[in-house]
Amino acid sequence: MRRVTMIYQLLVIQLTFTTVVKSSTTIQEFYHEERDALIPFRDSMNSSYNLHGNWTGPPCLNNMSRWTGITCSNSHITQLTLESINLTGTLPVRFLQNISFLSKLSFRNNAINGDLPTLTDLAELETVILSGNRFSGSIPSDYINLHNLTTLELQENEITGLIPRFDQETLTALNLSYNRLTGPIPESKIMERFNRSSFDHNAGLCGRPLEIPCDVSPAPSPSEEDGKKRLQVWSVVMIVAAIVIVPLLVVLCLLCCYRRVQGKQVKKEATGMFFLCFGSG
Ligand SMILES: *[C@@H]1O[C@H](CO)[C@@H](O)[C@H](O)[C@H]1NC(C)=O
Ligand SMILES: *[C@@H]1O[C@H](CO)[C@@H](O)[C@H](O)[C@H]1NC(C)=O
Ligand SMILES: *[C@@H]1O[C@H](CO)[C@@H](O)[C@H](O)[C@H]1NC(C)=O
Ligand SMILES: *[C@@H]1O[C@H](CO)[C@@H](O)[C@H](O)[C@H]1NC(C)=O
Ligand SMILES: *[C@@H]1O[C@H](CO)[C@@H](O)[C@H](O)[C@H]1NC(C)=O
Ligand SMILES: *[C@@H]1O[C@H](CO)[C@@H](O)[C@H](O)[C@H]1NC(C)=O
Ligand SMILES: *[C@@H]1O[C@H](CO)[C@@H](O)[C@H](O)[C@H]1NC(C)=O
Ligand SMILES: *[C@@H]1O[C@H](CO)[C@@H](O)[C@H](O)[C@H]1NC(C)=O
Repeated sequence: MRRVTMIYQLLVIQLTFTTVVKSSTTIQEFYHEERDALIPFRDSMNSSYNLHGNWTGPPCLNNMSRWTGITCSNSHITQLTLESINLTGTLPVRFLQNISFLSKLSFRNNAINGDLPTLTDLAELETVILSGNRFSGSIPSDYINLHNLTTLELQENEITGLIPRFDQETLTALNLSYNRLTGPIPESKIMERFNRSSFDHNAGLCGRPLEIPCDVSPAPSPSEEDGKKRLQVWSVVMIVAAIVIVPLLVVLCLLCCYRRVQGKQVKKEATGMFFLCFGSG
């Protein structure tokens, strides 16, 4: 009896081994590290599309994609485009790191929150569209090292911080409008290509082409900034004081006048009252 089960087990092991070998020879049409990178993304996001049901098996078969939103070339994933499907959640950290041949990334019009994705070493990346989400945090500085970048659309998010100095010759479309960016728009030959429509609706931005002048000292030292803050606090205090105290004084004065007028039983003539209050006060 024991021997029979042992033989059976060996048979099972033998069988699974051959199927693994077979599948690895027939399914060499995709790259495991690329698939492995997208599984945590699939499983951590919600959407109105059943990604979990569709993103199964290999993503690519040569130039053909089996997964919605994916484009393949020579068995590599080259595009990831999931637009307007109510994607919610936070992107897994560095999840695109191993999708080395990615040339286009678009999550336009979803509801993704958290930080913008890190795009380090994605040298082929040409188009990055992350507009119309709830991304926050600042623009990662590694975006300036994407040497093939032509389009960067980050408009309509909640992005804060400074704009990095983009200077890739390839960049021809940039939109950072409708965010919470602050500070000066960097001056460079490449940045001069873009008009105010690329930067509009960021309350804290200054510089060309917004026609909002930046402070004379572009990088104030912490102590200077402290001083400025103290100054601002003081001016606020003064304004509040003026707003509160001036009407209070007027009311007090009037009250005082009224009492005097009543106390002295003077004729209720307007001119007389005026002299009592302001002439002899
Ligand atoms: C990328 O691939 C390397 C080597 O296969 C692996 O160690 C790493 O965890 C992968 N990173 C991601 C984010 O998938
Ligand atoms: C995923 O969806 C696409 C488009 O609807 C379809 O062509 C493909 O066969 C689906 N893949 C799987 C694995 O179900
Ligand atoms: C896949 O497409 C590329 C061009 O995008 C082409 O060079 C290559 O031969 C194609 N491969 C197959 C297996 O069709
Ligand atoms: C996305 O969700 C909103 C409500 O949260 C809903 O009104 C809208 O129809 C959804 N869009 C899609 C494409 O499912
Ligand atoms: C996705 O939806 C499920 C069920 O509605 C919910 O339990 C889960 O927290 C959601 N996950 C995210 C990342 O929004
Ligand atoms: C990407 O840029 C490198 C130089 O940084 C260049 O050699 C390569 O041809 C570019 N790739 C594409 C697809 O333009
Ligand atoms: C600003 O640039 C965009 C894109 O290049 C262009 O479509 C638009 O007409 C420009 N607007 C103005 C006022 O020049
Ligand atoms: C930038 O995005 C805003 C909001 O979607 C749009 O109104 C504007 O025309 C865009 N500008 C450019 C230059 O693409």
